Amino acid sequence: MARILKDYLSVVLKSEDLDGKIDFVRIFGRFAPVHIEIGTGKATFLLNQATAQPNVNFLGIEWAGKYYRYAVDRIGRWGLTNVRIIRTDAAHFLAGFLPDKSVDCFHIYFPDPWPKRRHHKRRFFCPANLQLLLRALKTGGNLKITTDYAEYFELITGLLEAGKDQLEPTEFFPAAGAKDGEWVGTNFERKYLKERRPIYTIAVRKI
Ligand SMILES: C[S@@+](CC[C@H](N)C(=O)[O-])C[C@H]1O[C@@H](n2cnc3c(N)ncnc32)[C@H](O)[C@@H]1O
Repeated sequence: MARILKDYLSVVLKSEDLDGKIDFVRIFGRFAPVHIEIGTGKATFLLNQATAQPNVNFLGIEWAGKYYRYAVDRIGRWGLTNVRIIRTDAAHFLAGFLPDKSVDCFHIYFPDPWPKRRHHKRRFFCPANLQLLLRALKTGGNLKITTDYAEYFELITGLLEAGKDQLEPTEFFPAAGAKDGEWVGTNFERKYLKERRPIYTIAVRKI
């Protein structure tokens, strides 16, 4: 039987309520490092990482209503107070609502690869969105990415390489919820590992 998903208002950030650049201290009620996950899916990473790092404020951004509702229900049931989630397009949110130098880490795990050439323009990673990420990152802040898709990984590493005056490589440490052989322990990573697909990871720091 399908589970009835609850709408936990305390974990939800409504894009229609946002008025200009967001103030993380007001939203979370405290001053703390800010980590943002783009494309949370069912929020497995957010739940495990936020539990492991209660001193960090986590914001998830998810576009798809089906995943977003599932994630809201899970975050609410776990009773975490250091997680918020917003249903919106990440590029739109970054451009309009994220203050400069406000984010300590972006987590982007298994972004949709849009394999068909005619769909490449839908990919999240492109020069304009990298500029948005860089603008929002604090100096010393990190960008962590995983994908199973070799050609998209090449494109991403090429973009990061082109931004090397602002970025330096750093080690990709496995996430809190990752089990043996996993990097981030998300639903898509688990699915891809079962299918024996390669997993590519990269982490960079803003200098
Ligand atoms: C392949 S899934 C990966 C989900 C999760 N990160 C994982 O590893 O299990 C990609 C996710 O990114 C979301 N997404 C795609 N484009 C997005 C965008 N522009 N803004 C926010 N979320 C987006 C999709 O709805 C989907 O949930």
